[in-house]
Amino acid sequence: MPQKIIFDTDPGIDDALALLLLAKSPEIELLGITVTHGNTSQEKCLRNALSLVELAGIEGIDVVRGATEPLVKELSVAEETHGDGGLGYAKLPTASKKANEKPAHDFIIEMVEKHPDEVTILAVGPMTNVALALLKRPEIGKKVRSIISMGGAIHYPGNATPQAEYNVFCDPEAFDIVLRSGIDFTLVPLDVTYKCIFTKKHLEQINAARPEIKNFIADSTRFYMEFHVKHQSIEGCAINDPLAAALLLDSTLVKLEDYFVRVDLMGPTSKAKTIADYYGALNQKVNAHVAMQVDVERFMELFVERMNRFQ
Ligand code: RIB
Ligand code: CA
Repeated sequence: MPQKIIFDTDPGIDDALALLLLAKSPEIELLGITVTHGNTSQEKCLRNALSLVELAGIEGIDVVRGATEPLVKELSVAEETHGDGGLGYAKLPTASKKANEKPAHDFIIEMVEKHPDEVTILAVGPMTNVALALLKRPEIGKKVRSIISMGGAIHYPGNATPQAEYNVFCDPEAFDIVLRSGIDFTLVPLDVTYKCIFTKKHLEQINAARPEIKNFIADSTRFYMEFHVKHQSIEGCAINDPLAAALLLDSTLVKLEDYFVRVDLMGPTSKAKTIADYYGALNQKVNAHVAMQVDVERFMELFVERMNRFQ
């Protein structure tokens, strides 16, 4: 039975690659795509999500307008990383499909109440939509099957500040609310995603995909690679969100370690840092399964193979 998924996303180049992966994943049933601010404004993320759904040939799926700003802090965007349009050098036609204007947090509540204990939320952007759903209807915390979150950095340095990963940095209060919700929570931090570097070699291996898919991947990742080499001396680009999505297809791609994780809300230098209590010093109940090791080769092979299904 395919897993019921809500994809909460801020497309965003790696978000886009994750959406393409989900489009070629018969293992999952996509209930909807909820869009959040993050890599760029909500408006641009929503426009990108609608266009990506058409590029990927996904039909009959709601793309739902979500939060335009974080719960507490000011809005952040990452256009130096993803381009001012959010998809690097890639340009997609404006979608003919319109967004579902129901607020994303209401859509999440509706889907979880319609499918109790069946819905997994794949969250690859700031957690604002999910937190708003929990604030409005706390009882859904007991009905969400699980959350898989691309976010956080445990040992790895932050990519938004020296300590904070970008999704958590964008809305630390929201991430804290979701971490405290008691929902079964899998965290896919930079520690593993920054081992998954998509390179020109992988792009060349995507040789069976139809031209508009291959051109999109080439044009979006070219911008992303330029950012990575300039700012992080990485020859390629970390495909963070596709790794989180891939866990829905094969959870053995990573080794999970169970920890009590909290997010620092006090700062100032460590604000939005995700902290794992290794030795149980805080005597708190485990609240996260944290991916700390990844089979990079198997993941990259899976990603390339699924991209080549876009005939
Ligand atoms: O830190 C990486 C995360 O921030 C990814 O989800 C990327 O898309 C950005 O949202
Ligand atoms: Ca993202």
